[in-house]
Amino acid sequence: MELTIIGAGYVGLTTGAVLAELGHVVTIVDCDRRKVDRLKEGIMPFYEPGLDGLVSDQLRTGRLQFENEITITNQTELVMVCVGTPPNEDGSPDLGALTSVVDDLAKQLLLGQIVLTKSSVPPGTNSWICKRLSDAGIREMDCPVVSNPEFLREGTAIEDTRRPSRMVFGIDDRLSLAPRNELLERLYELYRGIHSPLLVTNWEGAELVKYGSNAFLAAKISYINELSCICDAYGADIRDVSCGIGMDPRIGPDFLKAGLGYGGSCLPKDLSALAYCAESRGVTSHMFEEIGSINERQMLAYAKQFLTEIDTERSSKINTEQKIRVAVWGIAFKPETDDTRMSPAITFMKQLLAWGVEVHAYDPMAIFSAHGLYLHDDPYAALLNADGLAVVTDWPVFAMNQVNWAFVKETMRGSVVLDARNIYHFGHLEKYGLIPVGIGRPLLQHQSIISEMRGNS
Ligand code: UDX
Repeated sequence: MELTIIGAGYVGLTTGAVLAELGHVVTIVDCDRRKVDRLKEGIMPFYEPGLDGLVSDQLRTGRLQFENEITITNQTELVMVCVGTPPNEDGSPDLGALTSVVDDLAKQLLLGQIVLTKSSVPPGTNSWICKRLSDAGIREMDCPVVSNPEFLREGTAIEDTRRPSRMVFGIDDRLSLAPRNELLERLYELYRGIHSPLLVTNWEGAELVKYGSNAFLAAKISYINELSCICDAYGADIRDVSCGIGMDPRIGPDFLKAGLGYGGSCLPKDLSALAYCAESRGVTSHMFEEIGSINERQMLAYAKQFLTEIDTERSSKINTEQKIRVAVWGIAFKPETDDTRMSPAITFMKQLLAWGVEVHAYDPMAIFSAHGLYLHDDPYAALLNADGLAVVTDWPVFAMNQVNWAFVKETMRGSVVLDARNIYHFGHLEKYGLIPVGIGRPLLQHQSIISEMRGNS
């Protein structure tokens, strides 16, 4: 098939490259001219493992190309809308880019071309797209609109696109049987070669599957983080509690890792958008707001805990006149990405900076700037004379057996290590004279035999 994808972000770029790999002829359009020029040379606008190679390969086949403006030809069979829908101040998604794309399409669409929305949008948006097109004289039966949300994760975007957990098609439930089946046939053709469970529903159902999934993932994380505070209070180990809870097949083990909280461009945004959608239709829901508040609290509570541990150590040993200086490992919202949007690491660092702490940070890919923050290109350089180390993003390079702990201890001035992703074995760190602090983890003497047996590192 010949298709046009609008928006060269994570979703548009990865989907376009994978569809080109499957044999389709794909034009990806982005309004950012510099981005397009660089993409034509195979230079990625962000770090995503394997994407540069895949894009370059597909550019060479000639099946993938980049353009700066939307040009729909009579060869185009399908237009996929993948533009961003960032959050407004009030939590609602900004549909400005989507609106301008729809208005552009309204001038260009030709009979039989499908409009497929991959951007995450509030319920009612695909219906609105259809209405806007129809106001411009394009009938739904001539150019059907499909909601086809994307579930890819940053860091594993290519794999998630090649082998998605599920495929959801939201179509107009007013379509009669023959055009509905014809439309589905064309969608199967688009995704031939991709095997995954399929759900066909109406527009609003598909839109809510997307928002509902991300809000639920956020809920799981906030739930386990809230439970981690109770573990702290009672001396239980959240990793064991989480493991035991996750053994119930009705719950499942994923997204139950306690930490500093969730970040990224999707979970926080889609949660706020869902809360906004509920409220704007008069649906009372306190849950969504609470999920977000727990997340925020978690980042700040552990910034405080970190500082308290440092203060305790300093008051017994070091000249307390000196400004507190800490090292932070990890800036990206999660490993294998350079994305810092809504990163818990940044909220954490900003809080420390607000308390007058000097912060020295290192991340293998991500960067961030703030007054009082020093970036380093080596993790150990960030540690020099630090009173404490906080490991906030679980990049593989920070794994327990990858770190030279003797050197860490030697380089730091203090001994506190905040393991904000629960990746370290405390006994091991203590052997080097370090003082480990985790999320919902008891002191070493309380650690359960199960934890030890798991060798959790
Ligand atoms: C998410 C959804 O997973 C994906 O399906 C959707 O298409 C886009 O949004 P992504 O934003 O890439 O993907 O990140 P994800 O892997 O979901 O992680 C989100 C955040 O939750 C990260 O900050 C991560 O560190 C945190 N997290 C995840 C936890 O704190 N604990 C966990 O157990 C899992």
